[in-house]
Amino acid sequence: MTKLSDINIGIIGATGAVGVEALKLLEKINHPKNKISLFASERSTGKLVEYNKDKIQILEANEDNLKKIDVGLISVSSEVSENLAPIIVNNGGIVIDDGSAFRMKEEVPLVVPEINEKDLDFHKGIISIPNCTTTPMVMAIDALNKICKVNKVIVSTYQAVSGTGKEAVNELKNQLSGDSKMNVYDYKIANNVFPHVDDFLEDGFTKEEHKMINESKKILHDPSLEIIPTCVRVPVKIGHSESLCISTDRDLSIEDINSSLSNYSGIKILDNSTDLPYPMPLYSEGKDEVFVGRIRKSPNNDREINLWLSCDNLLKGAALNALQILESMIKRDLIKIN
Ligand SMILES: NC(=O)c1ccc[n+]([C@@H]2O[C@H](COP(=O)([O-])OP(=O)(O)OC[C@H]3O[C@@H](n4cnc5c(N)ncnc54)[C@H](OP(=O)(O)O)[C@@H]3O)[C@@H](O)[C@H]2O)c1
Repeated sequence: MTKLSDINIGIIGATGAVGVEALKLLEKINHPKNKISLFASERSTGKLVEYNKDKIQILEANEDNLKKIDVGLISVSSEVSENLAPIIVNNGGIVIDDGSAFRMKEEVPLVVPEINEKDLDFHKGIISIPNCTTTPMVMAIDALNKICKVNKVIVSTYQAVSGTGKEAVNELKNQLSGDSKMNVYDYKIANNVFPHVDDFLEDGFTKEEHKMINESKKILHDPSLEIIPTCVRVPVKIGHSESLCISTDRDLSIEDINSSLSNYSGIKILDNSTDLPYPMPLYSEGKDEVFVGRIRKSPNNDREINLWLSCDNLLKGAALNALQILESMIKRDLIKIN
């Protein structure tokens, strides 16, 4: 079986919000420096990036450089990913893509390892990770599906600006220090919220909301699951939060709900018995888990559960999920290197 430390990993988009976190994760597990290649746009080619008290140079994302990697962790726009992923796959490598370019293609597994790592067995070279709002929600649904059938979820999101990328983080920072320029968003984000993430579609929902609807069905293998999202951008740097109202096929006690959520790998409940009474982005930032709290039943419907969650969108929402997919693939003996 291949060892993780033997794999030549390429981070494509290494200077971006997600790519920087992916490199920090490799640093944490002490992945050998000579088994890491970093790529970004032409603007960054040649720049040096700190790695374990050493430096790695950013390479141009061309065929010659990309063909040397065994696994590409891609965190760039869909358009760039559509161009670069095939180069890696055609040269025998594997792509784990953070963007939306391939997520809904039938031959591409869309994976949260805690839920559907078996889907990895059918990969054809490209694996996608879900949108950063989909991942924590489907983990909560999957935990509850162990004790009932979740039929429907009404969800409102509270999404951090880092979900849009590093430029949006700068925009919030600049606006908070008095510069009112708007390059990324249509409206000022400092001291504001807007119910608008990605483009609006004909049915009045946004593309981001459609991602939550469609990706959830695919990951959970449940085409009948109803997801009704409202995606909202908030002036938070890192950490997406969500308010979920979940309809189930039977009555559940609060004890059963708590136990199925707290026994689920990757979920941690925060309530009055822990160090915080409820999850918040300031607390979930930098942490691996999806934090769940405010768990309660609807006043007039025993088959409805309400909860609040927070999760680091750059970690479990992106880079960490990608690395966990790679670890699952190794465990399932799906990575062969020469
Ligand atoms: N942010 C999140 O929370 C999150 C979560 C899940 C999924 N995603 C997805 O992950 C992807 C990246 O998001 P992000 O937030 O990290 O974006 P970002 O901060 O804007 O970073 C974009 C990265 O792409 C690089 N890039 C641009 N053009 C390139 C090219 N032609 N060749 C190679 N690299 C190029 C940039 O390099 P330069 O620095 O040189 O411009 C930068 O490293 C997106 O598809 C996004 O949808 C993001």
